Amino acid sequence: MMTSEKLQTKYLSRTGESAKLAKRARRYMPGGDTHGPSYHLPYHVTFTKGKGCYVYDVDGNKYVDFCNQWLTMPHGHAFPPMVEAVQKRIKQSVGFGYPNEEQVEFAQLLCRRVPCFEHVRFVASGSEATLMCIRAARAFTGKCKIMKLEGGYHGTHDLGEFNWFPSPEAGPIEKIKTMPPDAGVRGSDIKDVVIFPYNETDIFKRTFNRHAKDVAAIIMEPMIGPLGMITPEPGFLETIRNMTKKHGVILIFDEVVQFPSAYYGAQGLFKVSPDLTALGKGIGGGLPIGVWGGRRDIMDLWNPEKGHDAIIQVSTHAGNALSMVAGLATLKHLTANVIKQRNKRFRRLKSGLENVFKDSGIRGQVTGIGYGFAIHLTDKPVRSPRDTFGAAMAAETIVGLIFMGLRYYGVSIYPPLFGIISTAMQDKDVDHAVHALAKTLKEVRPIVENECPHLIV
Ligand SMILES: Cc1ncc(COP(=O)(O)O)c(C=O)c1O
Repeated sequence: MMTSEKLQTKYLSRTGESAKLAKRARRYMPGGDTHGPSYHLPYHVTFTKGKGCYVYDVDGNKYVDFCNQWLTMPHGHAFPPMVEAVQKRIKQSVGFGYPNEEQVEFAQLLCRRVPCFEHVRFVASGSEATLMCIRAARAFTGKCKIMKLEGGYHGTHDLGEFNWFPSPEAGPIEKIKTMPPDAGVRGSDIKDVVIFPYNETDIFKRTFNRHAKDVAAIIMEPMIGPLGMITPEPGFLETIRNMTKKHGVILIFDEVVQFPSAYYGAQGLFKVSPDLTALGKGIGGGLPIGVWGGRRDIMDLWNPEKGHDAIIQVSTHAGNALSMVAGLATLKHLTANVIKQRNKRFRRLKSGLENVFKDSGIRGQVTGIGYGFAIHLTDKPVRSPRDTFGAAMAAETIVGLIFMGLRYYGVSIYPPLFGIISTAMQDKDVDHAVHALAKTLKEVRPIVENECPHLIV
């Protein structure tokens, strides 16, 4: 029996109830789920409860969790201050459709924590937040074009998804072709989107100079969050900031994933302040949330006190009291000291995982700082989404097997191999993940030798 089959058999033997549920789910939902990226073979595990950094599935298996509900819970599951705040608030009503007290308090806290925030508005998801930022930039500048990064995902709306997957058909990085994301996206939007590569300052300058006069905004993550917090090289963000400022182009940072990485978010960490920022995920502590905000003169376009010309934002669940109290409890407890402790534990995880790769003789590395991380099956520098996807595509089967092996040894991570570390984790939890990877790589090595010899050192 091939080792991959052994691994699969082990996975199946522990997750019988999940298998039954997955089969039932497929009868009612395409693929048995409502979330594309969490789909994987042979079937997903169904979790039933979580506490701190542990989750439990329907078969009673326990896992150390690096998913944290799509990166939305920086403190892990059932974080007591958040549970208490939500329980208390829900008894008073979910909301009134008018501003609540907690909304004011949260807006004030966010304006203190996000360097570019002078004014903020709430919505219900990260997608809505990035959509509103783009709309604001277009309304403010009167221009239409948007520049975005190859490999940048900004949510489930048309503009957010262009080139989020670095397709080989997009051509060389010098002049990346704008590629329609999925069927159903307006082809006519292609002419409004200009793509540039991450961490290529000279190419950025040339691309920007060609299009600047028609560009309303650049939307980008300062780090490439969902691909493992790939960090900006010196000068990249600064050049973008200086050139956008000079040409009156609005710079939007999407910190939906990465804000909890640092006390003042990525913009505080890299000391580059955009005009607008979109937040979501982690700042809601697991409840649905989006926040967009920034320069007061731009945000004023939405100010009804300015008269009939004000733009109207309608979003039914925007600022609902439950998301507000959950967000407040989460962010208040994400203090500088808590972040420092978490980052220390993160370094232990990163070096532990990297040592496992060294000992295994399989090429691999871990990117990330303090919070989010990803495992990449390559020892070449990972500077951009093209590098990440390139490495993952060249070893797709092995990535899948490592994912399954980690699950079998009690670690939950997102496909391809990405996660966040929560403040609930202790050294022993981090070490558990390191040991799980060591056992997995040992099992997988014969298959790597057969199927992906380029990964053997
Ligand atoms: C970087 C980034 N921006 C925006 C979004 C959209 O957030 P939401 O799923 O809450 O709409 C996501 C979602 O994964 C994301 O990764």
